[in-house]
Amino acid sequence: MTSGRPDSPSIGVFDSGLGGLTVLRALIDLLPDEPVVYFGDTGRFPYGPKPPDEVRAYANQIADVLVASGIRMLVVACNSAASVALEELKARLEIPVVGVVEPGVRAAVQTTRRGRIGVIGTVNTIASGSYQRAVAAVAPPGYTLTCCACPGFVEFVEAGDVDSDQVHILAERLLAPVRDAKVDTLVLGCTHYPLLARTISDVMGRDVVLVSSADETAFEVSALMGDDVRTPPTGRTPERTFVTSGDPHTFASLGARFLGPEVGTVIPWNWNRR
Ligand code: DGL
Repeated sequence: MTSGRPDSPSIGVFDSGLGGLTVLRALIDLLPDEPVVYFGDTGRFPYGPKPPDEVRAYANQIADVLVASGIRMLVVACNSAASVALEELKARLEIPVVGVVEPGVRAAVQTTRRGRIGVIGTVNTIASGSYQRAVAAVAPPGYTLTCCACPGFVEFVEAGDVDSDQVHILAERLLAPVRDAKVDTLVLGCTHYPLLARTISDVMGRDVVLVSSADETAFEVSALMGDDVRTPPTGRTPERTFVTSGDPHTFASLGARFLGPEVGTVIPWNWNRR
């Protein structure tokens, strides 16, 4: 990654692995002319079960790499990282930083019919209380909120398994608390989970609306960018750079399956050699 060139990426997006591609999809659809760089920290995933201080350190480290590449805006497309590091990144960096928790909550509050909201996420995200605080700040009076952690989901996605019997059995067990709470709206509070939407919907039932933060996050980025700093259309596809600290071949093949043809060459990143 180089910086300072006219085609330096304008938006940097990161996640522990492939999950943030669900947010990148929405960003590319809404802002197709922006050059972007995506960092998947697959070599150190999963973030969900790790101590919050460790995840915070990882988030800061990746943010510095992306800022050095010349980005003008950072999207923390990982709920686990956003839940423990967003405020610190916002305070420390000189560029706008957007997370995924508040956008997801806004979408859920607009969607819920009976005020019965559920949130599923990683152990870190749910334990951090980030969703509990964000919902309390904007939800209508009388709402109910049921949060539950779903350890294991992320590992299935990173292995490319989104609808096997095994993932279905795990979903039946992990989703029992939100199903029993009769939520009408379920926030997918981990950016990997939209890739499991079919399995989650099978278990929850068709009347439960699944809400992901991807579109709402893209709207927030677009609003923050404003027309004046947006990259004008050039008639050619903007540069889209993919970097992973894991295996670039696996990232390229699963990334193309989850994001689409935009995933081209994937640059390997080795934390031990930095
Ligand atoms: N996509 C990350 C999130 O939104 C996954 C966390 C993990 O690596 O466990 O939380």
